Amino acid sequence: MSKAKPVILKIGGSVLTNKTVELEARMDMISGIADQILEANPKNLVIVHGGGSFGHPTAQKYAIKEGFKDEAQIAGFAETHHIMTVLNGLLMDALIWRGIPAISMAPSSYVITRNGRIQHLDMTILKRLLEMGFIPVLYGDTVIDEEIGFTILSGDQIVAYLATQMNAERILVGVDVDGVYDDNPKSNPKAKMFTRLNMEELKNVLEKLGGSEGYDVTGGMRSKIAELMPAVMQGIPVLIFNATKTKHIYKAIKGENVKGTLIEKE
Ligand code: IPE
Repeated sequence: MSKAKPVILKIGGSVLTNKTVELEARMDMISGIADQILEANPKNLVIVHGGGSFGHPTAQKYAIKEGFKDEAQIAGFAETHHIMTVLNGLLMDALIWRGIPAISMAPSSYVITRNGRIQHLDMTILKRLLEMGFIPVLYGDTVIDEEIGFTILSGDQIVAYLATQMNAERILVGVDVDGVYDDNPKSNPKAKMFTRLNMEELKNVLEKLGGSEGYDVTGGMRSKIAELMPAVMQGIPVLIFNATKTKHIYKAIKGENVKGTLIEKE
């Protein structure tokens, strides 16, 4: 039984799926990630993954994030949740058939939000599973909302919540770019990557990125960082790295040096 602080690993939807093709999973990536987790043999790991081209298009089609407005959304809510379980199942398959003790935990079954923010998230079972050596696997999901009926809960908000509540050792955020840049690296080849940011520097970067809407849309980096700020303030380091690169997830879990942006309080 282990009581050590957990490490929380977020795997972005852009890593597990081809964001430009609806419902296209990156099976090579999923296998590679499972291989790396098997090799790293982590003791206190929680995995949270995103929706990519599985969750997002359906959520958008039925405007699930905006809350309940008409009956037609009810089937859309169910469909969005289901499509997330399908993506989750692909990752779970890859983990389980390698003998990794991963347990899928759908947030829609135990989370309630209020205006999109987590109000209740029962961690009793998750903590017990961790202590017994399981690897809980959560994901961005459709959830019931006290104020607006229902909404979409992002994986990033789950990560920040779990990390602050359990005082995580570290947060590892695997995306499809190398780290946090001063501009969109996909459209500006001169964009500079930060290898380390403290809270002060991070606030300045956020302000700058705030004016750059294109960057947020393609990278989604601004809202991601804003979501993780409370965890950083609590002293939990966050590493944003490229999870599509060979062995990066393995090295990040092991605490080895990985190219990326390390965000720390001081
Ligand atoms: C979104 O989760 C989940 C749904 C759309 C149902 P995230 O917001 O964490 O997904 P990515 O990582 O940005 O794809």
